[in-house]
Amino acid sequence: MKKIAIINGPNLNLLGTREPEIYGNQTFEAYFKQLQTKFPNVELTYFQSNVEGEIINKLHEIGFSYDGIILNAAGYTHTSVSIADAVKSITIPVIEVHISNVYAREEFRHKSLIAPNCKGVITGLGLLVYDLAIESL
Ligand code: DQA
Repeated sequence: MKKIAIINGPNLNLLGTREPEIYGNQTFEAYFKQLQTKFPNVELTYFQSNVEGEIINKLHEIGFSYDGIILNAAGYTHTSVSIADAVKSITIPVIEVHISNVYAREEFRHKSLIAPNCKGVITGLGLLVYDLAIESL
């Protein structure tokens, strides 16, 4: 069975209540259960942290043994050299995802430091981006 991890960065623990007009009404925990039901042949794990170093530690921990990582680094996407370096340092494929269309938003969201080190990027389709990333892996 393939092992795929979803890693969500800062403020994504507030999905469902945070800016619902941008991010929707569903909690990630509820959505994650749906994903597990939809992909019974994939061993899915979910990790969320608001702390940059914890995200890096998780990437190091699983980045040589799992089959893939779906990473929504949230605001760190646009600022974190260290998360970008961590993605480059590990050996398994990483897909960057964003719930909102970052290109339709403020200019500072148009730049991802992480994307050049990823296998692909999916942005702007709501929570469906996670389904599509799993399918692709
Ligand atoms: C986000 C987009 C980022 O720009 C933002 O900082 C987030 C969420 C998204 O999923 O749309 O926190 O990664």
